[in-house]
Amino acid sequence: MEPCYAVQALDDIVTPALLVFREIVETNLRLMIRMAGGPERLRPHCKTHKIRQIAEWQLALGITRHKCATLAEAEMLALAGVRDILLAYNPVGPNIPRVARFVETYPEVRFAVTADHPLPVEQLGRTMENSPRPIGVLLDLDTGMHRTGVAPGPEAVRLYRQIAAAPGLEPAGLHVYDGHHHQKSFQARVEAVHESWKTVASFRNQLLAQGLPVPRVVVGGTGTFPVFAAMDDPGLELSPGTAVFYDAGYTEAFPDLDFEIAALLLTRVISRPAADLITFDLGYKACAADPPLENRLVFPDLPDARLVRQNEEHMVVRSRTATHLQPGDFQMAVPWHICPTVALHKLVHVIDGRRVAERWDVLARDRWLTI
Ligand SMILES: Cc1ncc(COP(=O)(O)O)c(C=O)c1O
Repeated sequence: MEPCYAVQALDDIVTPALLVFREIVETNLRLMIRMAGGPERLRPHCKTHKIRQIAEWQLALGITRHKCATLAEAEMLALAGVRDILLAYNPVGPNIPRVARFVETYPEVRFAVTADHPLPVEQLGRTMENSPRPIGVLLDLDTGMHRTGVAPGPEAVRLYRQIAAAPGLEPAGLHVYDGHHHQKSFQARVEAVHESWKTVASFRNQLLAQGLPVPRVVVGGTGTFPVFAAMDDPGLELSPGTAVFYDAGYTEAFPDLDFEIAALLLTRVISRPAADLITFDLGYKACAADPPLENRLVFPDLPDARLVRQNEEHMVVRSRTATHLQPGDFQMAVPWHICPTVALHKLVHVIDGRRVAERWDVLARDRWLTI
């Protein structure tokens, strides 16, 4: 384990636990700002941390625009003092009246959502019709991920016109999330992003030529962040999420990025069922269970460890050094996918000066707070 992860007085920590290293978070946030060329170009996604204190920290560093995926995250951001929030989600069902309640409860927040279909736009427009302030709606564009969004083209123009015409809504720009750009080679990623950007930029020009305002284009995640950050376009808002804590998956996927692992799991050995097997208290109720099994974690101090099984509260690992460990011994583990891992923890232990300095609630891990 690198010396920056040394922690004293672990004995009282109930495991499994998530440790957040304050200095490394600071390094990641500052790197994000430096790469972007200033905090005003950022709109980080809070789904990775879901923690009010981190949103407050980002605000203190000058990052005023934020993005979220749930109304609970939006509320967490509002409670942190954020005044410009984008919910990057098509509000549907009870989330439509919840959006209206959110706007009523937090009138000081400039609130926007994304949309990619006429129905939610129509329902949201009707719900917001008599609201004293319209809410912004960004058109969600699909540039190849095929998760949400409409392809740039005539249907997308019609939808943006529909947003512009709805009394309670205001056309607030475009949203492009491109999680499909996972090219390990930086050059290949640059080329792929530039290719899709050409389509988005020309679509924006089409809207502008029709007199429709396009005040911003919210783009990308952590992998494509350096590519968009290098573009000189005043309308761009860059929305990395994972960068704040980082994880083993992105370290492997994007060798060009210099973000550092800021959140690690602390686990104890609970059993040693065979000479080459160790069982940790690190089931999938404590560590995200993205497939494949072998990739859920990295144990820096057990380099030959191979994950052989994970149940709700157990993780079984094969290692030649299994006999060196006894029940009760600690290991630190780097999550492969940090965002869903954070959501499994009620709180994080904040490490500063090699000790637990504070504990922060993962406030927005719940689906709703008060609204
Ligand atoms: C809409 C949206 N924006 C931004 C992000 C942040 O991406 P990343 O986790 O790669 O930083 C995500 C991640 O899932 C996302 O879904």
